[in-house]
Amino acid sequence: MSRYTGIIEAYRNRLPLDLEARAISLGEGRTPLIRLENLPRLESVEADIYVKFEGVNPTGSFKDRGMTVAVTQAVHEGSRAIICASTGNTSAAAAAYAARAGIKAFVLIPEGKIALGKLAQAIVHGATVVQIRGNFDDGMRLVKEVAQTAPVAIVNSINPYRLQGQKTAAFEIVEALGRAPDFHCLPVGNAGNITAHWIGYSECAGLESGACAHFPDSWDFSGFGTQRKRPRMVGYQAAGSAPFLRGGPVHNPETVATAIRIGNPQSWDLAWKVHEESHGWFDELEDAEILATQRLLAEREGVFCEPASASSLAGALRDLKQGKIPAGSTVVCTLTGNGMKDPDVILKNGLTGLVEVDAERGAVERALLERL
Ligand code: F0G
Repeated sequence: MSRYTGIIEAYRNRLPLDLEARAISLGEGRTPLIRLENLPRLESVEADIYVKFEGVNPTGSFKDRGMTVAVTQAVHEGSRAIICASTGNTSAAAAAYAARAGIKAFVLIPEGKIALGKLAQAIVHGATVVQIRGNFDDGMRLVKEVAQTAPVAIVNSINPYRLQGQKTAAFEIVEALGRAPDFHCLPVGNAGNITAHWIGYSECAGLESGACAHFPDSWDFSGFGTQRKRPRMVGYQAAGSAPFLRGGPVHNPETVATAIRIGNPQSWDLAWKVHEESHGWFDELEDAEILATQRLLAEREGVFCEPASASSLAGALRDLKQGKIPAGSTVVCTLTGNGMKDPDVILKNGLTGLVEVDAERGAVERALLERL
């Protein structure tokens, strides 16, 4: 067996990169597709639910798939610096891949609203972190303005190479299941990832999509079989930050799921196409529902994702209970990021399960026996 070296080498013939481009990779991708064993029974839903755990990527989120391709292309084109606005995960990935490539990273983050682990990642990888007195949408606007004159490549998902990398998650799902699922549920913030998945599923099915910018004849789609099925794409937003539900930008987005605290999604048009082409829908979740599902998944399945990620499963469970997703469906939920990035959100609710005893055998035994 050869050593796995990331999505560029795995899918080079389906990515719009020069063959000579040196891959800037950290071995991202090949993330587990975990079948839920306890939650469906516990929640009385009848479905095959899988979670695609993107939190085990090298920097702990799905952003690595897009960043490896975007940074590879930027370096190939001669860029010496990259820039992004971020709610945290993009900045962590940009910082890490820039470090790997030996170029500079500049990241704009919203003041006080980014999970501590993500901030630590950007710092440790040596990025210049610019904390702005504003939110993600302000940061996005500023990045676009600054990049007009400064010699920096934007690596937000408005960079099409990002979506091209992120589409590989759909490839892996089709390979693992032997077909596309009936429903694919994702959290939606800037709306790049739902678009990227749709591009990936469309390519697997050999079908064109209005959301797909690149579709060269030369690409090799063999290996995915010939079935034409694509899933219905379902996007979930946090209620305080749900522009797709409001029908337009939200000016002061708020949610505990800081990763998707975005009021003006950059891939709005593409995500609407996905919604129409796939006959899917958008829905919203209260912060309390998101956090309850994050807990449930951690306690009952052993999977610790960050709050934004849990919205995909929270929404899928609700839609299954309401019959919007029919019983017997095969459902994939993307868990976009690792829960360890945001310990505060867990610890804020108290140290449940923590028992303090004297350093003595009897006390420890009693603590155990009372709880067995
Ligand atoms: N889940 C997590 C954990 C994220 O970090 C993001 C986006 C999303 C979901 C939404 O994905 O934007 O493609 O719709 N995070 C970006 C960032 C905005 O800056 O890290 P999307």
